[in-house]
Formats: sequence, C-alpha cells, structure tokens
Amino acid sequence: MVLGCGTGRVCRGLAGTRPITGLDRSAPMIERAAARGPESVRWVVGDMTSFSIGEFAEIIIPNASFAFLPDRAARAACLGACRAALTGGGPLTIDVPMPDFTLLGSAHTPEREAWTGRVNGAVVRRTREVFRAPVAQSLRLVDRYWHGEELLAESELLLHLFTADELEWMLEANGFYVEAIFGDHRGAPLSEGCARLLVRAFPLR
Ligand SMILES: C[S@@+](CC[C@H](N)C(=O)[O-])C[C@H]1O[C@@H](n2cnc3c(N)ncnc32)[C@H](O)[C@@H]1O
Repeated sequence: MVLGCGTGRVCRGLAGTRPITGLDRSAPMIERAAARGPESVRWVVGDMTSFSIGEFAEIIIPNASFAFLPDRAARAACLGACRAALTGGGPLTIDVPMPDFTLLGSAHTPEREAWTGRVNGAVVRRTREVFRAPVAQSLRLVDRYWHGEELLAESELLLHLFTADELEWMLEANGFYVEAIFGDHRGAPLSEGCARLLVRAFPLR
C-alpha cells in the first residue's frame, strides 16, 4: 500500500509487480489517479492517520507525505494504523526530504520562479516563496500560479522537517524497529548534503 499516493505516480511505477492499493485524503487526486489507472490498482480516499482497510504485506509513504502530518499525535496515529495493517510483519518505508541545514539559518527565501508549463493550452508559471521556522523544524511553502501578470491561484503547504534520529526514535516509540536508513532512492548511505531521508522499519511483535 502507498499512503499519500496523490495522483498515483508511485502506484503506477509499482503496478504489475504486486497488488497495489493507493490511499490519499484528497478525493480530486484519487479521482485523477483512478482516471489514469491502471485498473489493477485499488484507489482509496482515506486518512493515513485512521485507515483500516485490510492487511498489507508492505507500506510505503513516499515523497514527503508523512511530513504533511501536522503534529506528533497525527504521526503516532499513522504509525499505529500502519502497524495494525502490517499483520505479516512486513516493512514500512518512509521517504521525506533531508533538511538542508545550510538554509535553516535564513528564515525566508523570497518568491522565485519554480516551474513553467501549460494548463489547458495556456502558458502558466508557478513561483514559490519559502518561510522557515528552524526551532519548530517547519517549512511553509507559498506557491502562486500566474498567467502573465494575473495571479490565478495561491496555495500554502506546511511541512515538518525530520532529522534521522527523530524519525528513528518516533518509529521505535510506536512499535517499530529501524532496519535501514538511506540517503537516496538507490540505497546510498545517509551523508552530508543528501537530498532524501528514507527509513525502512519493521513492526515489533
Ligand atoms: C507531496 S504529495 C505526494 C504525492 C505522491 N506520493 C507523489 O509522490 O507523487 C503529498 C500527498 O499527501 C497527501 N496527504 C497529506 N496528508 C494526508 C493524510 N492525513 N492522509 C492521506 N493523505 C494525505 C496529500 O493529499 C498529497 O497528495
């Protein structure tokens, strides 16, 4: 199962290798995912802090979805639900961005271009402004979508920045043991300046 699957990118990558369930709390994202398929994937609108939709051999929480959970209680609830679903003792893998410690001292990165593309044929660009709260280990990302000089939409994301120790202690406090920690998707060891923080843990029985 993939938690926080969004529009299904990771599920599509894994489909065909084993039965896949993708869960996300956003109904529009799950609708998009289901429209793209494949049909073999089971798509579920649900909350990763309180799901109970069967037993699973393995759970993945990819691409920062775990960092969207707002507080310790929500993270503990998510780990509890994962533990309950991993009845066969299979692994839970959490993939979050590695904090850039060199940037934590600057509280603000001014708005700058982040992406340009086409939406319904029109050229649209996205800018991003970043606010950092180092003590709270949080990032507030403000994204704005522009058509020329016209502001089309604005969205905010609040992300928690985990350190490796913090993730390890949290998993251990919630009934998992950590088997491995990696610094990228190819299994490189955690190192200074690595982009990702991936933790693979197994439920304690
Ligand atoms: C950065 S996106 C990652 C999407 C996808 N995993 C990918 O890599 O393309 C984070 C996703 O987490 C989902 N999410 C955040 N909190 C959630 C929750 N409590 N339960 C389920 N999904 C959640 C959001 O709706 C969003 O789709």
